[in-house]
Amino acid sequence: MRILGIETSCDETAAAVVENGSKILSNVVASQIEIHARYGGIVPEVASRQHVLSIVPVIEQALRSAGTPWQDIDGVAVTFGPGLAGSLLVGVNTAKAIALSKDLPLTGVNHLEAHIYANWLTEEAPPSFPSLCLIISGGHSDLVLMKGHGQFEKLGRTRDDAAGEAFDKAARILGLGYPGGPAIEQAASQGRPSVPFPRAWLKGSSDFSFSGVKTALWHFCQKNDLSGNSSLVADVAASFQEAIVDVLFTKTINAAEELKVKQVLLSGGVAANKSLTRRFLDSSPLPLSVPPPHLCTDNAAMVAACGYYHLQSTRPPTRHYDLDVVPSLSLG
Ligand code: KG4
Ligand code: ZN
Repeated sequence: MRILGIETSCDETAAAVVENGSKILSNVVASQIEIHARYGGIVPEVASRQHVLSIVPVIEQALRSAGTPWQDIDGVAVTFGPGLAGSLLVGVNTAKAIALSKDLPLTGVNHLEAHIYANWLTEEAPPSFPSLCLIISGGHSDLVLMKGHGQFEKLGRTRDDAAGEAFDKAARILGLGYPGGPAIEQAASQGRPSVPFPRAWLKGSSDFSFSGVKTALWHFCQKNDLSGNSSLVADVAASFQEAIVDVLFTKTINAAEELKVKQVLLSGGVAANKSLTRRFLDSSPLPLSVPPPHLCTDNAAMVAACGYYHLQSTRPPTRHYDLDVVPSLSLG
């Protein structure tokens, strides 16, 4: 079964063809990073207009690279939320038009659920249930128990900034540019984690909080002159990164051991961070699944993989996993 996946929730216009929920035949991502970098962050109206320009060529390229004509596509999956409304509309309406004109089944996919399904696209054996999923992106930091396909229970979320958002804001304070995660990672690779930034453990809860460490970084930059001191900037970046990785790793592993899950699945853009994956790979007492970096950041292959399981499913997924912006829409 070949699914065409479409993703336009934020600033990447993406389309992919995936076979049987695991084999990537094509995975095309048109990034808007250069366009938004000059503003220091994503401008929603600019993003949606860029999606309008890119969506058709990106889909055509995905089919061409997959060597798959339209008649060999068996279904369409599209991200319907959460995300920027104007951006989502472009993908959803394009997917609807394709499904209607080609007479194909269509499924709307939750973006966070799609991130989890990047773990079905790796070279490794498919994950085992129950799994504990850590989804860390620009807008979310969620811990989700996955008992089976479509069966999710949200255990924790960030109470303020998401992990990726904290990276982006810290990079901005340090003058490292956008997107912040890769910029902090790059700077951190030249530094030592010598600044004792705070960790919000929120004991007894699986929630996260990253606004405190971000504020601590801001105060540090107010008190110390970092201008022209690239080695101090590198040390601050390394210290900030370590504080975030420490909390994500410790809280995830504590929850995983308590729940006695079979595996821990990482996903979302922040899971592309090598320091984070090294910490999990070196220290996790449980089997771990980490998608390669290009499948952690936004892409449509993960949407197609998730859509495959929706279309295979004979019963609607459970609704424990709240869908943030569009809770009334069906997942399946
Ligand atoms: O999942 P994603 O591509 O888009 C959203 O759904 O938000 O995640 C984007 C976020 C951004 O905040 C970006 O700074 C962060 O992921 N990110 C990273 C890295 N690569 C991307 N954070 C830390 N280290 C990285 N290497
Ligand atoms: Zn994402």
